[in-house]
Amino acid sequence: MKTAPNIHLADVQSVYSGPEGRLWELLMGEQIHIGGFQSSMDLAQRAGIAAGSRGIDLCCCTGAGMRFLVRFLNVAHMTGVDATPAMLQLGRQRAAAEGLADKVAFVENNVCATGLPAGRLDFVWGEDAWCYVEDKIKLIAEAVRLVKPRGKIAFTDWMEGPARLTTVEAARFLGFMKFPNLLTLGEYQELLNNNGCTVLVEQDTGRFAAAMPLYLDMIEKQLTYDALKIIGFDTALAAVLVGEMKFIQSLAQAGKIIQGLVVAENGR
Ligand SMILES: C[S@@+](CC[C@H](N)C(=O)[O-])C[C@H]1O[C@@H](n2cnc3c(N)ncnc32)[C@H](O)[C@@H]1O
Repeated sequence: MKTAPNIHLADVQSVYSGPEGRLWELLMGEQIHIGGFQSSMDLAQRAGIAAGSRGIDLCCCTGAGMRFLVRFLNVAHMTGVDATPAMLQLGRQRAAAEGLADKVAFVENNVCATGLPAGRLDFVWGEDAWCYVEDKIKLIAEAVRLVKPRGKIAFTDWMEGPARLTTVEAARFLGFMKFPNLLTLGEYQELLNNNGCTVLVEQDTGRFAAAMPLYLDMIEKQLTYDALKIIGFDTALAAVLVGEMKFIQSLAQAGKIIQGLVVAENGR
């Protein structure tokens, strides 16, 4: 595990309450994860998400993943937990605007201790967000606590790849992204096993290296004005952001960071 001990939840909340979060949405769309719709469908199919089931999205942001699940997989109900009030407010507005307010609920809390009842849900869902969570031991224990016996825990996440980051690369990458730490697929597997889960799928989706050039092209070739507007027309800051995105691209190309996909079953 690579760590950035000086990064905490307040830093992440400030990203998602301000221009950085809006910039990610400009580049990625409402589904703020690599691969958007295609990635969500892939995860849902691998996890066998069934019509009529009930789930919880840990780090739901504005709830785009939940709207996807109720609309396209006929999931009966989703609860989303997130710690950033601005994202939850936007999520409630979007769910209502799409006529889905009765099928998705939002809870403001830290995903490590949701306060929600144990063992009631068919699945836990997470998309490219658990990299922001400081205490992965508590996160995985909470995810397992929330699902029924034989329930699924399905997530994608930004992870350290097999080529491994150097200490210097990790400090720069985690610092820019505001990730308190970064796990490998193997480290997630160990945490899940420690909580009585069997890991059914764990793999590199192979999407990361292809996605970054797309975001860079949009920021440099199509959405430059829009991106500048979000950051107060600060062209020097824009140059820094593009430089860091190119650095991330080089890490992805070298297999040092990946989008990992995991599906586990609660054995308890
Ligand atoms: C990249 S966004 C999630 C994107 C979303 N899964 C999607 O696919 O659209 C990350 C979210 O994680 C939330 N977050 C990070 N750490 C958290 C924590 N410890 N507890 C609750 N929410 C957290 C942030 O507030 C933010 O909304």
